[in-house]
Parts: sequence; C-alpha cells; structure tokens
Amino acid sequence: MQAIVHSTYGISSLALTDQPAPLPRPGEVLVRVAGAGVDRGVWHLVTGRPLLMRLGTGLFQPRNTGVGIEVSGTVEAVGEGVTRFRLDDRVFGVGRSTFAELAVAQEGNLAPAPESIPLADAAALPVSALTALQAVRAAEIGDGAQVLVLGASGGVGTHAVQIAVARGAEVTAVCSTRKAPRVLELGVTRVLDYLGEESAVVAAGPYDAIIDTGGNRPASQLTGLLARGGSAVIVGGEQAGTALLGGFSRQLIAPLVGLVGRRRLVSLVSVTSAADLIELVGLVESGQLRPVVDQRLPLARAGEALNLLASGAVTGKLVLQVD
Ligand SMILES: NC(=O)c1ccc[n+]([C@@H]2O[C@H](COP(=O)([O-])OP(=O)(O)OC[C@H]3O[C@@H](n4cnc5c(N)ncnc54)[C@H](OP(=O)(O)O)[C@@H]3O)[C@@H](O)[C@H]2O)c1
Repeated sequence: MQAIVHSTYGISSLALTDQPAPLPRPGEVLVRVAGAGVDRGVWHLVTGRPLLMRLGTGLFQPRNTGVGIEVSGTVEAVGEGVTRFRLDDRVFGVGRSTFAELAVAQEGNLAPAPESIPLADAAALPVSALTALQAVRAAEIGDGAQVLVLGASGGVGTHAVQIAVARGAEVTAVCSTRKAPRVLELGVTRVLDYLGEESAVVAAGPYDAIIDTGGNRPASQLTGLLARGGSAVIVGGEQAGTALLGGFSRQLIAPLVGLVGRRRLVSLVSVTSAADLIELVGLVESGQLRPVVDQRLPLARAGEALNLLASGAVTGKLVLQVD
C-alpha cells in the first residue's frame, strides 16, 4: 500500500512510499482510508515542535515513521474481539498513521460515519470537531449564552462556533478579515478581526464563555473579558511561545490560575471518545454541524497540505482524499 512516511523531523522529509499493509491487533480495526484530516497535531508530530514533545515522540528522530491521526473510510478487516464493526462498515475516528491507503484504529476510537456528508470529509471531524465539542462542554455553554470564539476560522474554531450556535449561544467570532465571510455563514452574530478590532471585542462582551483556539492572549486578558460566573477554555494557539513549549505555555499556567474571582479558566486536553464521536454524528445528521473543508488533496501532497496549514492559508480543514 501507499503511505506517507518520515524518518527525520521536518515537513521536507515526508515521502510517499510503498509499505506493507498493517495488520489489526486484538481490539483493532483495519480501515481502507477514504480521507485523512490534516490537523495541527500532525504538524507538531511531523516537525517535532515544540521540542518538549520529543520526549514522547523521539529525541533526535521520530519513533513512529507513519503520519496522520484523523481517519475516515471503510472497514477492511477486524482484529480479534472487535464487536462493533464489520467488513465494509463506514467509519471515522482516530487512528495510527492515517496518511495511507490502509490504517489501523482501536475499536473504541471509531464510530459509524455520518451519511449526510462525503465519507472523506468525515475525516475533518475526529480531532478538530471532537475538541470543539469538548471545549463547548467545558465552557458550559447553554441557551442564550454570550460566547467569544477566538480562532473561529480554524479547524477547531469552525466547529466550535457551529456547536455553540446549536446550543443556542450568541457567538462573537474572532479571525482574520479575509476569512470572515465564510465564518459568518456558520451562524455567528458578528465576526471581528484580531488585528485592529480589539475595542469591538471588548464592547461585545462581557462573555459567559470564551473558547480560545488562536493567538496568545494572556490568561488575565481572557478572564477580564468574562462575565461573573463565566468560563474561558484554552484549547491552544500557535502564534507565540518558546521553542521548548510553543503555545502550550498558557495551557500549563491555566490550571494554576484556575478560578479567578468567580471566573473559571480551564485548560483543555481533548480525549478521544466513541460517545463524543457519536454525538458529533448526531449534530451532522441534524444539519447543525458541517465540516468546513477548504480543499481535498491527494496523499502525495501531504507536505504541501501541512505547509498550507502552517501558513494560515486554510479556512476550516484540509483533507487528504485517498481513493
Ligand atoms: N487542547 C487540545 O486538546 C487541542 C486539540 C486540537 C488542537 N489544539 C490546538 O488548538 C489550536 C488551534 O487548532 P486548529 O486546528 O483550529 O488550528 P488552525 O486551523 O490553524 O486555526 C488557528 C486559528 O487561529 C487564528 N489566529 C491566528 N493568529 C491569531 C491571533 N494573533 N489572534 C487570534 N487568532 C489568531 C486563525 O485565524 P486566521 O486563520 O483567520 O488568521 C485561525 O482561526 C492549535 O494550537 C492546536 O495545536 C489543541
């Protein structure tokens, strides 16, 4: 089978090569890949940045030569003990080395794919939309809430605004002006640019909840925008930080700051959950959530896709289409 591999850190080392097909171990499912989502996590794993991450992924070179996390496709084979899936089922979820024609995933990290969107596009959901769902939940967003989504044009942000709107929230979305028209289509009340519209961001508040997926606002600035009893959830941000920690430094600080005078600051680490994947399917099938797929690219263009993502050129998600 064809698969993207890398033997050293860096996007330029990615290569499309012939590899032996993986075999599903007990509890695993072998998926014939239709789509593989291109998310920031993959960019971090491929580049080995921030450097602290290499403690887990390999100090000098990546331990896992395969690339890719998000996957959608059809079941090709199941390992011993798998009960939820059968041959040819349409599935999506989190797998290993998904930038390939075949990839394995644990049974519990998969769910039946939504029927109302193309199968390849379902690969935009398993990390980005799942993180958005868990952020909306952590922010305790309910009907009528005033919500600020920072990074609303991104992979997580485009899903977060839709889920917040589905919960009945009034959403102020923050992103670059060139991506504002696409974000306005997602049901938000207003879109403001993070360059030059800060006074409008303040004026539209205070907010019952903030979901921060972009930029590097200090924790004190986030809590300053909150109403009493409000919550700010830090998901991530690429735009600052040291080589060692990248944008993760704020997430490390957040639990220390925690509760600030009746305002909550939460650091989110998303966790793959079949129940949450199934909840996402419900939102998609009811028309409340659509992955914003900027482009579908072939496997061979995986490196270009990661460069596009890092350059800020992508609205929503890129998907590698494999067929
Ligand atoms: N905690 C977790 O479990 C978890 C899970 C998934 C992702 N993440 C992290 O969450 C972050 C977002 O991921 P993503 O996939 O959504 O990334 P993405 O697709 O690249 O989106 C980044 C967003 O940030 C916005 N942005 C850029 N510069 C900004 C600034 N100075 N101020 C405010 N916003 C700015 C971008 O707006 P424009 O493009 O319009 O300029 C875009 O909307 C990443 O750091 C990722 O690693 C964390």
